[in-house]
Amino acid sequence: MSAERLDWIYAATDAADLQRRYDAWAEHYDADMGALDWAAPGAAAAQCLAHGGRGGVVLDAGCGTGQVGVALRAGGAARVIGIDFSAGMLGRAALTGAYDELLQASLAEALPLAPGSLDAVVSVGVFTFGHVSPEPLAALGGLLRPGGTITLSFRDDVFRDLGFAAAVAVLRESAGWSLLQCSEPAPLVTEHGEGVPMRVWTWRVR
Ligand SMILES: C[S@@+](CC[C@H](N)C(=O)[O-])C[C@H]1O[C@@H](n2cnc3c(N)ncnc32)[C@H](O)[C@@H]1O
Repeated sequence: MSAERLDWIYAATDAADLQRRYDAWAEHYDADMGALDWAAPGAAAAQCLAHGGRGGVVLDAGCGTGQVGVALRAGGAARVIGIDFSAGMLGRAALTGAYDELLQASLAEALPLAPGSLDAVVSVGVFTFGHVSPEPLAALGGLLRPGGTITLSFRDDVFRDLGFAAAVAVLRESAGWSLLQCSEPAPLVTEHGEGVPMRVWTWRVR
């Protein structure tokens, strides 16, 4: 059942359709992803906390039901802001009590946050098939104070094949992104009975 849910999410025809599907899924997301051994939120939150998130102001971009925010809060982030375009997912995130602020917005559009206002950005399960393309990465980096960090989870195939590796190479030159940590590949989610290799990447932004 849970793997079919992911297939159903990946089959969204456009952003509005994806938003509707997440609204409909919100109530069962945590149970379904638990059944798929979803471990990326904990792994990414820990890496974010180790690179400036602890004691800092952190944006959880595409926060969903709040799994990353809960881990950030437990690990000592001072202030946690969540953004998502699905009101249904945000409603579940609100129930966690982990977020100081929750904003409904699309990552594909200008975000309602001041440039240079964050110590860290973390985004998990968002830059993937049929979700968010590499284009908003530059704007997310621009929300960081000088020396702030951005931590992102990627399936290995998505990072390689959907333009993310190329986008980061450009950001290294144009915006001073420098790699701080790339985790070892690990099956942070299971699909159709097989672990999907994923990594968590952290860059410092000039
Ligand atoms: C796979 S879920 C990940 C949720 C959470 N980060 C986690 O790790 O469990 C992807 C999330 O990205 C959100 N999302 C997808 N496209 C988005 C967009 N363009 N703007 C804002 N949120 C988006 C969805 O609503 C959903 O909550």
